[in-house]
Amino acid sequence: MKLFKIGVIGAGGRGWLAQCAHKPEGDTRLVAGVDVKPAALEKFQERVGGDAFVGDDYRELLKIADIEAVFVTTPDYLHEEHACAALEAGKAVYLEKPMAITIEGCDRILKTAYETGSKLYLGHNMRYFPAILKMKEVIDSGLIGEIQAGWCRHFIAYGGDAYFRDWHSEQQYSTGLLLQKGAHDIDVMHWLMGGYTKRVVGMGRLSVYDKCARRDPDVPGNASWKNSQWPPLEQSGFSPVIDVEDHNMVMMQLDNGAQASYVQCHYTPDSERNYTFIGTHGRIENIGDGGRCQIQVWTQRGSARLDPDIIYQLKPVEGTHGGSDPAIVQAFIDFVREGKTPNTSPIAARNAVAAGVLAHRSMREGCTPFDIPPVDKKLLDYFNNGQKR
Ligand SMILES: NC(=O)c1ccc[n+]([C@@H]2O[C@H](COP(=O)([O-])OP(=O)(O)OC[C@H]3O[C@@H](n4cnc5c(N)ncnc54)[C@H](O)[C@@H]3O)[C@@H](O)[C@H]2O)c1
Repeated sequence: MKLFKIGVIGAGGRGWLAQCAHKPEGDTRLVAGVDVKPAALEKFQERVGGDAFVGDDYRELLKIADIEAVFVTTPDYLHEEHACAALEAGKAVYLEKPMAITIEGCDRILKTAYETGSKLYLGHNMRYFPAILKMKEVIDSGLIGEIQAGWCRHFIAYGGDAYFRDWHSEQQYSTGLLLQKGAHDIDVMHWLMGGYTKRVVGMGRLSVYDKCARRDPDVPGNASWKNSQWPPLEQSGFSPVIDVEDHNMVMMQLDNGAQASYVQCHYTPDSERNYTFIGTHGRIENIGDGGRCQIQVWTQRGSARLDPDIIYQLKPVEGTHGGSDPAIVQAFIDFVREGKTPNTSPIAARNAVAAGVLAHRSMREGCTPFDIPPVDKKLLDYFNNGQKR
């Protein structure tokens, strides 16, 4: 196959993911990277070669005619601008989650993809996590019947360091962490429960991290973390402006009648996403979400909590995020080059953002329930048909 040339907007940080697509021995190459941090560009060139284009203006990268695909791995508040510009330039786009920080932003990206015909792909890598795939396989087999209830408890031990020291801590850049982090989990729940949220009620609070020592506004935020930064109130270097919650809860009613809840806490000692799905014939739960983990299933009444009826033991898979990063990047390449259907979906990504945005609005407006606005029918048809007219 002809050489597939790829650019990266936001080459540092999460942009490192795009390295999974750089295969000098194969036929896919990173040939250009853009970032506002010179150190990120130096590292990028070290990895992919000195002849790669680098710069700080994404518009210059988009002018390179033989680049077919672009990774957009910049902070959330830039996704809409960068994704729309790349689609308009005729590039296939790998867009990191969350799709955007507003529902209108997501809908503009969907519309731009529809109007330009450029391929759009969403980086919801949890749809390639071995634990999620196993739970989906068990649910789809019908073993636990029709799923009626889904819960997710999300413990985030690194929350203070990762989300309260830089842009994540401000509503104007992230909308809030229920959307920022929870977009993954809401998407997983939609996928495994076979529906999309139609109504949300949220509740949340900034309960701990408003009390930690702040950095000077002139000092850049450092989101790296160490386990020694504990307990939570002893952490420091936090953003001068923090207006997002560190404890978030949302209840969701899905369009297929099932109900779900998601609870997220940023000051726990351990980290895990613990899901359970309850159907008309049983219950499934993951113990651990990456590396060595178990999927436990209860199918008989009276079975003890510590004595599931079935246990699937999962072994670690190579690659970051439990092996999901190399898998999702390969699925992107296969989608663009060969038209293979991926696990992820732009409509699902939009609907995860919509639930997150309105859950935040609900918690900030007295726990008022909000209904999710539907996606325009012509866009829905286009994306449900694999982005073919
Ligand atoms: N799917 C996952 O598992 C996963 C994991 C981490 C992050 N993410 C997502 O990746 C995105 C980036 O997150 P991050 O933590 O790496 O953020 P970050 O703040 O480190 O930004 C990523 C890179 O973009 C660069 N950048 C910022 N503004 C830019 C601009 N105007 N033009 C070009 N480059 C610019 C930064 O310098 C940085 O190198 C977010 O949307 C986040 O949600 C996803």
